[in-house]
Amino acid sequence: MTCEVARAVEALRGGGLVAIPTETVYGLAADVSQTSAVERIFSTKNRPVGHPLIIHVADLAIAETWADLSSPVAQQLATACWPGPLTLLAPRHEKVPDIVTGGRLTVGIRVPAHPLTRALLEAHGGAIAAPSANRFGKVSPTTAQHVVDDIGDVLNPDRDLILDGGPCGVGVESTIVDITTTPPQLLRPGGIPAEDIITLVGDIDGAVGPSRAAGMMASHYAPRTKVLLIEKGAPLPDGDAHDMYVIDRTNDLADAARNLYSDLRIADAANVSLIVAVMPPAVGLGHALRDRLTKAAADQSRDSANPIG
Ligand code: TXA
Ligand code: MG
Repeated sequence: MTCEVARAVEALRGGGLVAIPTETVYGLAADVSQTSAVERIFSTKNRPVGHPLIIHVADLAIAETWADLSSPVAQQLATACWPGPLTLLAPRHEKVPDIVTGGRLTVGIRVPAHPLTRALLEAHGGAIAAPSANRFGKVSPTTAQHVVDDIGDVLNPDRDLILDGGPCGVGVESTIVDITTTPPQLLRPGGIPAEDIITLVGDIDGAVGPSRAAGMMASHYAPRTKVLLIEKGAPLPDGDAHDMYVIDRTNDLADAARNLYSDLRIADAANVSLIVAVMPPAVGLGHALRDRLTKAAADQSRDSANPIG
């Protein structure tokens, strides 16, 4: 175990917060079993309590001690996609504290693929709760510097730390699949394309059973600057070209995903009146990109009265 991983494990055991690199985005982690540390995740992010957190573990065997993953669908998805950018929403075991699930009977769980965080999870042996390490509703972080920029001032240097694992390789959050309905339901498009999930488990439309798509809001991942979406091939809007920042990576979806949040941050810092984002096609990673861009462009005032949406 490297020195920095050992320090991170110690910080988690001491009730501190650790910003962790994952293949998707950086997370802000606390030991699941320490309620006061998990509470600090919410205050640090300014996130409404009751908005549930994903827990992260080292492997499927440990995941099974936190959630019921006994169904054939769960086994198939976990075996094919872990470690990797897939979160399963599954019945929780009793030891998962209410603060993590917002009192729900399900828990979101995943095995991340980043080597540094895998080493941390293996050394820790338990589970860590980690939402994305940004202020609630804002653009997600894909570098350690983004984390410093967003929440560096509210971390406690005596207890907390940021693990720098370089830029995230995938760049958009994990795909969330609810396996408590029949058939399973896709709750959030993400790093594993919907087409791959369908290949693994068959049809995912027309699920029967209560949807658990809690906490999905119209506006999210939002820069300060207004975002206008245009389809590929459409003309740019009228106006001063120097007062617009255009994001167009539609020719390479993996590159577009890897750079999405950096692009939005750079565009936001460019001091223009408008960010124009060209929508990628709705295939593969394009589903997640279209979802995030749509939320980045949504009117933030609509959610403020009802943050859980
Ligand atoms: O890639 C990812 O998933 C990243 C990295 C850090 O792992 N994490 C992440 O967490 O995106 P967060 O908190 O930013 O988004 C998690 C989403 C939220 O919309 C939350 O409401 C939903 O998952 N979620 C988590 N647990 C849930 C549950 N038990 N029931 C319903 N929704 C849940
Ligand atoms: Mg987030």
